[in-house]
Amino acid sequence: MEIRWLGHSAFEIKIGGKTLITDPFISGNPKAGVTLDKLTKVDFVLVSHGHFDHVGDTVELCKRTGAKAIAPPELFVALAKQGVEGMFANPTGWLPLEGIRVAMTPAVHSAALGLETGEIIYAGNPVGFVIEGEGKRVYFAGDTGLCADLKLVVGEYFKPDIALLPISGGFVMDPEQAAVAASWIGSKVVIPMHYDSLPMLPQVDPQEFARLVSAKAPGTRVVILKPGESYKE
Ligand code: NI
Ligand code: MN
Repeated sequence: MEIRWLGHSAFEIKIGGKTLITDPFISGNPKAGVTLDKLTKVDFVLVSHGHFDHVGDTVELCKRTGAKAIAPPELFVALAKQGVEGMFANPTGWLPLEGIRVAMTPAVHSAALGLETGEIIYAGNPVGFVIEGEGKRVYFAGDTGLCADLKLVVGEYFKPDIALLPISGGFVMDPEQAAVAASWIGSKVVIPMHYDSLPMLPQVDPQEFARLVSAKAPGTRVVILKPGESYKE
């Protein structure tokens, strides 16, 4: 299994023979660790909610690679109108996907999709994802604040091995809250995301997050990636 950070909340996850991309905000992110044309083999694009820094290049990526999008229903309908194929879901049990499986989890955040006309449309509830393959579970939080679901639904029920958590504060958990989330989730590894990307976000230090996790969740190892770098196990 390989998890490559593409910058912000975009990851390329190779697991169980499949390639998944989360929240592909790439062409709009000057600090992205890849260019869009380099992503040629993609099976699934997981979209957590309708904000621009998460929907990103979903439409182009799906059309060009034939990848299927998985998104909350209202967001999926908007993407399907632009030619995207795939499926919609809400937080529920596992969705089987050709040798791997994916489940959506609750997230505490907002979600609206801004159209090119300037119109803002409702894009459903934001979600996170748990991806299971090769006997491992990866939790991708999307954008969320600190909430009890991180302890109960993610930590106690799904028990992921690896967690990808936003740390920027501003619209999502700050480093201290993300460290508390890490202690509740109890995964062996946490990879921070959603920082050092948008000017509108607070500047945070991932090393400070790592120090907080070592104090609050000593059994959890923080892996700090640079955009373009991978974690493998
Ligand atoms: Ni957001
Ligand atoms: Mn965001």
